[in-house]
Amino acid sequence: MDVTVFSTKPYDRQFLDAAASDSHHLTYIDERLSVRTAHLAKGAGAVCAFVNDEVDAAVLDMLKNLGVVLVALRSAGYNNVDLDAASRNGIVVARVPAYSPDAVAEHAVALILALDRNIHRAYARVREGNFALDGLMGFNLNGRTVGIVGTGKIGACVARIMLGFGCRVVAYDPFPDNATAALGVSYLKLEEVLAQADVVTLHCPLTPASRHLINAETIAGMKHGAMLINTSRGAIVDTRAVIAGLKSGKIGHLGLDVYEEESDLFFEDMSDRVIVDDVFERLLTFPNVLVTGHQGFFTEEALTAIAATTMANVSTFEATGKALHAVVASEPIVPVAKPKPAPKPALVS
Ligand code: NAI
Repeated sequence: MDVTVFSTKPYDRQFLDAAASDSHHLTYIDERLSVRTAHLAKGAGAVCAFVNDEVDAAVLDMLKNLGVVLVALRSAGYNNVDLDAASRNGIVVARVPAYSPDAVAEHAVALILALDRNIHRAYARVREGNFALDGLMGFNLNGRTVGIVGTGKIGACVARIMLGFGCRVVAYDPFPDNATAALGVSYLKLEEVLAQADVVTLHCPLTPASRHLINAETIAGMKHGAMLINTSRGAIVDTRAVIAGLKSGKIGHLGLDVYEEESDLFFEDMSDRVIVDDVFERLLTFPNVLVTGHQGFFTEEALTAIAATTMANVSTFEATGKALHAVVASEPIVPVAKPKPAPKPALVS
């Protein structure tokens, strides 16, 4: 099957080429998939898309007219896909449900440790010959409370790591997981997690219910000076509300691997351009904010697994007409392997 791969970088080509079989013919496009670029899929049966590709109704209508029958996402999240439009156009959408939860979990923990101990500031200081410690004081993680929002594959992994640090781990998930609770994680309501946690880390998918889950109201309910970490999807956090929280001191540290408007910035070298996003630039002025450009997934193990599953989705579709990991419009937000309906606590917002 011919596959047009959008948003490709040299590392994507390296791992996808290694995973492709002789029956796959991959055409690599550097640009993002959008109404402007969708025509480049002409002649392909499948397109392969990444997190900031625009797989909306207009693009899917165009892809259908070009003869595309499969969208193989190189990601776990599928919030950028209009599933109803895909279904209407008879296009199957496949994803990579779990490639390396450890990769993202370890990145979240890297942000926690770096912010806590001011590693980002110490790095710059020492290189300038400034060995003063003023302003670099951190806090012990041992004994602190970490609040996890979303205890799926990544959140559960973060829980295991933070329990290893000697933290008390509390969590909110509309569908609490017995195995995670058995590790020693206490499930609470969202507002209780936010009120008790010294560190809040977000690991839920972006859905209508989780959009701006962290907003002015929920920030007001957080512990004063708490650390907030988001490695999930940018729009789970209302960035303007977080900036207000940083200015008031309510939020003591902020670690982001994702940002609401990241599609105009991330994955590109913008170093010789003027960045016009004032909200993003304001974030970068705070000494207690650390931003990485959506690199949580970026480990050798994860890229190997993403490429293998993506090509397996294509091969299985070729052989059977169905993808190995198809996403359907009516798919619940819970992972398939979690049969644990529990009373659904109300969201704050
Ligand atoms: P998962 O599907 O295994 O777990 C998600 C969990 O969130 C589930 O337990 C679900 O019940 C829970 N959840 C759903 N809605 C919620 C809500 N409103 N509030 C609280 N919990 C809620 O997903 P996984 O693999 O753990 O990934 C989580 C997210 O991480 C993905 O959806 C994606 O957005 C993000 N991600 C980020 C990456 C990065 O490079 N920074 C890479 C991979 C994933």
